[in-house]
Amino acid sequence: MSHSDTRTISFTLNGKPVSAEIEIHWTLVDLLQRGFDLYGARQSCGQGLCGCCTVVMNGKPVSGCLSLAALADGGTIETIENGEEQLDPVQEAFIEAGAFQCGFCTPGFILMTRQLIADNPEPSEDDIRHYLTGNLCRCGTYPQIVEAVRMAAARHRAARMPA
Ligand code: FES
Ligand code: FES
Repeated sequence: MSHSDTRTISFTLNGKPVSAEIEIHWTLVDLLQRGFDLYGARQSCGQGLCGCCTVVMNGKPVSGCLSLAALADGGTIETIENGEEQLDPVQEAFIEAGAFQCGFCTPGFILMTRQLIADNPEPSEDDIRHYLTGNLCRCGTYPQIVEAVRMAAARHRAARMPA
């Protein structure tokens, strides 16, 4: 590959400034896996249909399999590997509700659930199913996922109430 097929990009990854040399055809999944050894965003369908590759770019969830890595230049990327030691309330709710089996889809569901709760703090079951329609779970843990989202949303609301 010639030198012109690569470029260096700089961005904020999970709160830390980083830079990486990328090949221009790399997707965000390639960038995270090859550039940073981060495997929470997984490629499954590769067509924007399953949500397993979800990452948050500039504050919005995107399909990491379809988004070019070069688009991250100058922006922010957040992944499930946010460097926090503590689980957040969404992760805790997924564990408590048993909302996964193999776990392959779970990072994508958790990132989307955080966004869902930020957009709609009191989602109905229909709201949850509609919002997460782009995330697929081959293990079929949808009832538990809905329960986990409801649990996490309730805790989020309770935490925001004045004491
Ligand atoms: S791997 Fe990206 S949406 Fe399925
Ligand atoms: S827990 Fe296996 S694909 Fe969702």
